[in-house]
Amino acid sequence: MKNAQKLVAPLLEAAQSAGATRGFVAPARWAARASEEIVAVDNTHKQAQSVISVPSRLLMGPGPANAHPRVLNAQALPLLGHMHPPFLHIMDEMSEGLRYALQTKSKYTLMISGTGHAGMEAAIANLVEPGDKVLVGNAGIWGERVGILSRRYNADVVEIKCPTGETFSYADLKKAVETHKPKVLFLCQGESSTGTHQSLAGVGELCRANGTLLLVDTVCSLGGVPLFADAWGVDCIYSGSQKCLSGPPGAAPFFMSERAMEKLAKRKTPPATYNLDLNLIGDYWGWWNKRSYHHTGPVSTFYAMREALQIVAEEGLEPMWARHQEMHHRLWDGLRSLGLKPFVEKEEHRLITVNTIKVPEGVDWAKVVKHAMDEYSLEIAGGLGPTAGKVWRIGIMGFNAKPQNVDLVIDAFRAGLKQQGKL
Ligand SMILES: Cc1ncc(COP(=O)(O)O)c(C=O)c1O
Repeated sequence: MKNAQKLVAPLLEAAQSAGATRGFVAPARWAARASEEIVAVDNTHKQAQSVISVPSRLLMGPGPANAHPRVLNAQALPLLGHMHPPFLHIMDEMSEGLRYALQTKSKYTLMISGTGHAGMEAAIANLVEPGDKVLVGNAGIWGERVGILSRRYNADVVEIKCPTGETFSYADLKKAVETHKPKVLFLCQGESSTGTHQSLAGVGELCRANGTLLLVDTVCSLGGVPLFADAWGVDCIYSGSQKCLSGPPGAAPFFMSERAMEKLAKRKTPPATYNLDLNLIGDYWGWWNKRSYHHTGPVSTFYAMREALQIVAEEGLEPMWARHQEMHHRLWDGLRSLGLKPFVEKEEHRLITVNTIKVPEGVDWAKVVKHAMDEYSLEIAGGLGPTAGKVWRIGIMGFNAKPQNVDLVIDAFRAGLKQQGKL
C-alpha cells in the first residue's frame, strides 16, 4: 500500500502543477482521496472467488443454444495475431464456409465482430443513405427494432405489420413494394419473438423488378431451415452464431450481393459508423484482395466459428434442415400429448427452430420455467415483446436439436404442469 502511495504521489503532484500552469488548481484533497481509493478497492474478492466456475445447463430457449464441443475446443486454442497469415487463412476458410451455409457464390461474405444486432446495424448503416425509403416488415420485435435502428440512420421508414403469430403473404409484400418503391425491404425469416417463419418465395424477384434491395434477418433460422441467398435473390443477410450454427455469441455471419455492393459503392456519404463500415471491414476480410487492419478480430470467437462452419459443411445443409424438422415434430408430438397447443395457428407460418407454445388458462408460465431450471438445469423461455406472458419459447437449434434434449423438454413440461395440478 505504501508502495502504491509512493508511485501515485508524484503523478498527482505533476497533475496539480500541469493544471496550475493552465490556470487550474487541482484540489489538495485529490492526493488524500486517490491513495484512500487504492486502499478501498482491495483484492480480497479474489480469494473468495478462486477459479471461474460455470454451471452446466441445457439451453433450449431461443438462444444461445449450447455450442458444439468441437467449437468450444477450437475456442480454447492459443491466440494468433489478428493480421498473422495463419489467422487470415482461418478468416478465408470462414468466408468459404459462409458461402456454403448461405448458398451464395458472392465473394462478399464475412463475420461482423459482434452479435446479431451488430449484423443488423451493419446492414442498415451500409445499405441506407439518409432519406432512403426502407420498408420494414414488422412481424414482431425484430422488425420493430430494424425500424428504430433505420430511423437513427435517418431513413424514411415505412412499416407494414401483420397480426401477431402470422406472416406476410406475397400479395401483402407485392402491394407494399409496388406502392412505396423502397430502396430496401426488410424481412425476418425466423421471427423468434412470435415463432413465425416468413416465406421468401418470389420476394427477391419482386424486389429486383422494383429497384429494391432485399435484406433478411436469419439470426434464428440459418442452418435450421432452407435458405438460398443467390437463388432467392436476397441482397443482404445477417445472422447469429449462437443459434443453429452452435457457436458462441459474438460473430454475425454477413453477406452482400453484387447489387448491394453497387449501392454501397455509389453512396454519396460514407456510412455514419466507422466501426461497421463495410468498406473498411471488407478490406480486413480481403474482399478486394488486400488486407488492412480495421479492428482486432475476436480471434478465439473466429476460431470457434471456423469450426462451427466446418461442422455444418460436414453434416451437410439438407440433413441439417431435416434434423431440425424431425425434432420439431418430435417436440410437438410430445407437447400435444400434454394438451399444449402451438401459438402460431397455421402450420405453414410456424418456425421450427423457435417454437411458441400457448400458455393455457390458469397456468403460471414463469413457475414452469423455474421448475425446469431448478429440477433439470434446463432453460426454456417465456414470450418476448408481443408474446410476453402468452407463450413459452423452445429452441430446437444446432447441436441441441437431438432426441434426448427434446424428450427432456417434454418431461420438464409434464413435471412443471403436474406441479401446478394441471395434469
Ligand atoms: C431473429 C433475431 N434477430 C436478431 C437477434 C439479435 O441477436 P443478438 O442477440 O445476437 O444481438 C435475435 C436474438 O435473439 C433474433 O432472434
